[in-house]
Amino acid sequence: MSAPVAIEQFPRDYAAVVIGGGAGIGEAAARLLGARGVDVTVADRDGDAAEAVAAAIRDAGGAAASEVCDVTDEVAVRGAFNAAVDRCAVVHAVVNSAGIQGPLGRPSHEVEIDEFERTLAVNLTPGLTIARVAVPHFLEQGYGRILHVSSIAGKEGNPNMIGYSASKAGLIGLVKAQGKEYSRAGITVNALAPAVIRTPFLDSQPQSVIDYMIEKIPMGRTGELSEVAEMIAFIVSPAAAFTTGFVFDLSGGRATY
Ligand SMILES: NC(=O)c1ccc[n+]([C@@H]2O[C@H](COP(=O)([O-])OP(=O)(O)OC[C@H]3O[C@@H](n4cnc5c(N)ncnc54)[C@H](O)[C@@H]3O)[C@@H](O)[C@H]2O)c1
Repeated sequence: MSAPVAIEQFPRDYAAVVIGGGAGIGEAAARLLGARGVDVTVADRDGDAAEAVAAAIRDAGGAAASEVCDVTDEVAVRGAFNAAVDRCAVVHAVVNSAGIQGPLGRPSHEVEIDEFERTLAVNLTPGLTIARVAVPHFLEQGYGRILHVSSIAGKEGNPNMIGYSASKAGLIGLVKAQGKEYSRAGITVNALAPAVIRTPFLDSQPQSVIDYMIEKIPMGRTGELSEVAEMIAFIVSPAAAFTTGFVFDLSGGRATY
């Protein structure tokens, strides 16, 4: 048997849109993709943060631009995606890392309907919005990668995080259905289910909540941003061609299915 031959992970003209790319997991993914030669459009509701990440990619020798984009606003998502198509001619992948925690630390009967629905609007409904925006372009070219960052909370349910757990579980159901819808069109739709990763997202969490989450991780530690970014880069690469409608685990052994 001959030895495996190292190949570039991405073809030369590969382009991706990273929504929620201004911080945390999205930023780490955007920077790694940029470093691997992908032209990255960093989209975030925080335009300054998005531009700072795009500038860092350019400073490191990569290609990137930024767009202000609230993922709950279909017009804004379409605007960011179309700007990427205008700039790059073709977009190959969308990473959706935008997310909020929603109401925390209260059991379901103390959660207001509107705060629950707001969490779904940010964490779940964009699964449909992004398909509406990106899939027609992907169908035309017979290729596309969509990756939504879900959570272990969507698989197992975190108590007193009902909006978060329900929205992330919804996202898992969404990718399973969408993956099948486009399975013969060269388009993959997948989710990632990280356990606790040390990012600014966690800063607002009480230490007791963080400890609760770490205690459930057999490896006994949080995940590293570099570990998440590597997995995202693989999932949205051409090499990840035979996996769709799947939830990739990133949980230090916590997820057992
Ligand atoms: N950090 C963790 O431990 C962890 C674990 C599991 C899942 N996740 C998920 O990963 C994703 C990213 O989390 P993170 O830790 O990097 O968070 P973060 O807060 O560090 O970054 C989130 C980014 O999304 C942006 N954003 C928020 N709402 C937005 C909106 N409506 N439109 C556009 N952009 C918006 C923010 O401005 C920010 O730049 C989230 O979906 C989160 O649920 C995080």
